[in-house]
This record gives sequence, C-alpha cells and structure tokens, in this order.
Amino acid sequence: MNKKYAVITGASRGIGRGIAILLAEYGYNLILTARKKDKLEETLNLCTQKNKDIEVFTKTADLANINDIDAFVNFAKQKAPRLDILVNNAGFSRYAPASKAALHDWEEMMAVNLRAPFYLTGKLFNYMLEKNGDSGGKIINIVSKAGVVPFEWSNIYNQTKFGFLGYTKSLALEAKKKGIQVSAICPGSVATDFQKNNPLGTDWMLQVSDVVNVVEMILKSPNRVQFEEIVFAPVRKKS
Ligand SMILES: NC(=O)c1ccc[n+]([C@@H]2O[C@H](COP(=O)([O-])OP(=O)(O)OC[C@H]3O[C@@H](n4cnc5c(N)ncnc54)[C@H](OP(=O)(O)O)[C@@H]3O)[C@@H](O)[C@H]2O)c1
Repeated sequence: MNKKYAVITGASRGIGRGIAILLAEYGYNLILTARKKDKLEETLNLCTQKNKDIEVFTKTADLANINDIDAFVNFAKQKAPRLDILVNNAGFSRYAPASKAALHDWEEMMAVNLRAPFYLTGKLFNYMLEKNGDSGGKIINIVSKAGVVPFEWSNIYNQTKFGFLGYTKSLALEAKKKGIQVSAICPGSVATDFQKNNPLGTDWMLQVSDVVNVVEMILKSPNRVQFEEIVFAPVRKKS
C-alpha cells in the first residue's frame, strides 16, 4: 500500500500536537512546522513513540513570513511524494477593545491566521491535485467558534477567523469537484497555552482530545463526505 503523508502547521503544542499524534497512530508520515524547534522535536518524539513505522520531518517556520512559508512548502514537497492531508492549525490571538486595538497586532494576526493558510493551501492544494490522482485528499482547517460568532475584545481575531471560514467554504466548493474534502473545525475555548491568560481559568474548557476526536471522525469518513463547518463548545457554564 502507498505511504500516506500529512502536513500540520502549529504542531509544536496544543491542538496541532494532538492532531499530529492522532495521525501518527493512523500511520501517516508527517511533515510538521512551527517556530520552536525544541517543541517540534518533542512532538516528533511523541509521534514516533506512538508509531515506530512512520517518518516524521520537522522544519521551523514563522508563518508571518512568506519566505519561510515558501521554504516550508519546498521542504514538504521534498519529503512527501504525495499529500493526503493538510491541517492548517497555527494561529494566535491578542485581545483589546476596538478603540485600543493596535495596527501591528492586526497585521500579525492577519498574516498568521489568514494569509498563511491562504498562501500555504494555494501551494499544497495544487500539489494534492498533481500527485494524488483519483485518491483525493483532505484539508482540515482549525478555524474557531470565533469564525462564526463575535466575542467582545476579539475584534481582530474575529476578523481573521470569519475570513478563514469564508475562505474554507469557498475552497470547499472548488475542491469537492476534484475529490478533495475541505472541513472547517470551529471549537469554542480549548484548554491550551492559547488560553493561559484567560481570567476565567481553563477548568471549564474543551480539551485537546475533544478537538482530536472531531478530526478522527473526519479521518474515518470517506472523501465523499463534506463536513463543511463543525461548531462545538464546552457544556459547563463559566462561573
Ligand atoms: N485554544 C482555544 O481556545 C482555541 C479555540 C478555537 C480555535 N483555536 C485555534 O486552534 C489553533 C491552535 O491553537 P491552540 O489552542 O493549540 O494554541 P497554542 O497551544 O498556543 O498553539 C498554537 C500553535 O501555533 C503555532 N504558531 C503560532 N504563531 C505562529 C507563527 N507565527 N508561525 C508559526 N507557527 C505559529 C505555535 O507554535 P510556535 O509558538 O512554536 O511557533 C503553536 O504550535 C489556532 O488556530 C487557534 O486560533 C483555539
């Protein structure tokens, strides 16, 4: 059987690391990126502990930087003769009331949360079409509930995630004609580093495993199924 390959951004911790370990379990060879080399290496080790039969390749990149993305795309193409799954996961947020929101935060969040997945997907979607033949592929975008509903002080993050959801849905229309399934995963708050400064704490939040379960459902579904937008959130009330 042909080897399977997946690319994951933001794989150094949190949700991206959880998805990497899941895909390792399912036998995917992995090409992982983030900025922090030591944390990426930790993810690599966790993946190969889970499955000794896979290969895992890492390359650091700052996704705010187009040259870094180009270098990562070239690296991924060298390592992966085909691409079965692309997970656009890297992202971050800074919060401020609209009157105090800073332009440099807008530029950085737009670059990482919106421009990077747009640019990377443009390149790797073509690679999937070129290399995968009739076997299709999956693009899984980790958007957010903030791509669907507004949150106060989240005006920049909301812009990036509403935009990312719009991009994902438009791409899905095009991709499904070519046998590629595109899904937007939109979780509410998840207890990761992303939430470490949340004044409400993290006890009530979703866990990484809850997001990983949703990815697993997509993974187990044939490419004919299009999960356009999966929105889910914690049940417990914030106290
Ligand atoms: N946690 C939540 O409540 C929540 C809810 C809904 C959606 N999300 C979304 O889920 C995704 C993952 O978040 P998480 O909760 O797992 O957060 P996290 O633990 O903070 O992880 C974020 C990941 O993104 C990478 N990253 C951040 N900036 C980057 C940059 N400039 N270049 C390259 N990589 C970068 C980080 O790696 P390095 O620091 O090593 O670069 C890290 O691997 C994000 O898109 C986030 O918006 C999170």
